[in-house]
Amino acid sequence: MDKETFVSQTASPTDDNMKTAVPELSSAQNGLESIYEPIRKDLNSVESILRKELSNEVPFVDELLKHSWLLGGKRIRPAFLLLCGASCGTIGQSHLQIAAALEMIHTATLIHDDILDEALTRRHRATANSTWGNKVSVLLGDYLFTHSFHIASLSESCESLRMLAVASNRVCEGEMRQNAWQGKFDLTETEYLQMITEKTAELCGVGCRLGAHLSNASVEKAEKYESYGRSLGVAFQVIDDVLDLVGKPMQVGKTLGTDLINQKPTLPVIHCLQQMNPSSHEEFKLILADPNSSCENLMPYLDSTNSIAYAQSVAEKHASKAISFAESLPSSPYASSLRELAEFVLHRSH
Ligand code: IPE
Ligand code: IPE
Ligand code: MG
Ligand code: MG
Repeated sequence: MDKETFVSQTASPTDDNMKTAVPELSSAQNGLESIYEPIRKDLNSVESILRKELSNEVPFVDELLKHSWLLGGKRIRPAFLLLCGASCGTIGQSHLQIAAALEMIHTATLIHDDILDEALTRRHRATANSTWGNKVSVLLGDYLFTHSFHIASLSESCESLRMLAVASNRVCEGEMRQNAWQGKFDLTETEYLQMITEKTAELCGVGCRLGAHLSNASVEKAEKYESYGRSLGVAFQVIDDVLDLVGKPMQVGKTLGTDLINQKPTLPVIHCLQQMNPSSHEEFKLILADPNSSCENLMPYLDSTNSIAYAQSVAEKHASKAISFAESLPSSPYASSLRELAEFVLHRSH
């Protein structure tokens, strides 16, 4: 099959249906505009790098890459990098390039994650897997991973490339750990936190560390920024797991309820099982295992043990470490944004 035929035979999102899909949320709409204000110009430059890098002369490759780039998203990881970089020094071309590489790695993990979760919607649009199928989506994710390392290698900072590679490995380890723990609802909270630290907090942490590192911060200082990002990354995933149960699909913009469908042990469910009367264990486990169950079926149990509120309190505990760090920084618009970002993570509805 030639390339053009391939494009026309697959249910690709044409320019037309890209336009008619639910419009991409601008950061003004999703509450991040004022937080991103001090780095707006640099974030726009990162966007331009993504636009330029995610194009290809082969039509169907170009179409796939445009889908990943057009996906939009909150761009929180490049924002972490740029805010931390600006709070330690001056933003240069290497910050922009590495921030684009980081966002590309994140997008690759989402494309692969949506295959694993059989998700239909991402960033208010049809997922790559639901549009082109799993095989093409695996390749698209691979392209983004490899291209991100290509871009990072051009920044001439070998250390940045190493940090990105190590962090990407950890994300994969976290996803593998999660896959191995499918259906294991008696996971301890410590095991859960270890898994989400790998699969989510790692990229947030490395983004913050890279920002500081590229601004010539000392290793000790860069590590503090990394801890900030990691704490917020943990809070971010705990809230994501809460949203998967109680979020509004139109607001969150992605398929929800997939954690239950895919038998992922998340904090509200782990806590609920630990806190409930042992006589209800079997009943609750049957609901968890039933493929026809929905999140609503879990709610009476989660409510009886206050497990949603508990998960929120765990997210708050982790975010408060990040807030203390942001408050300890010399006052600047960047430090204020780092603090506000922590509040955003806790109260986000998308
Ligand atoms: C989604 O991340 C995946 C998780 C780690 C929970 P984001 O919520 O940052 O996704 P986008 O980039 O804004 O779509
Ligand atoms: C985060 O986990 C995914 C990655 C780290 C790649 P989720 O599976 O909860 O992310 P969403 O909810 O699909 O965005
Ligand atoms: Mg998922
Ligand atoms: Mg999720």
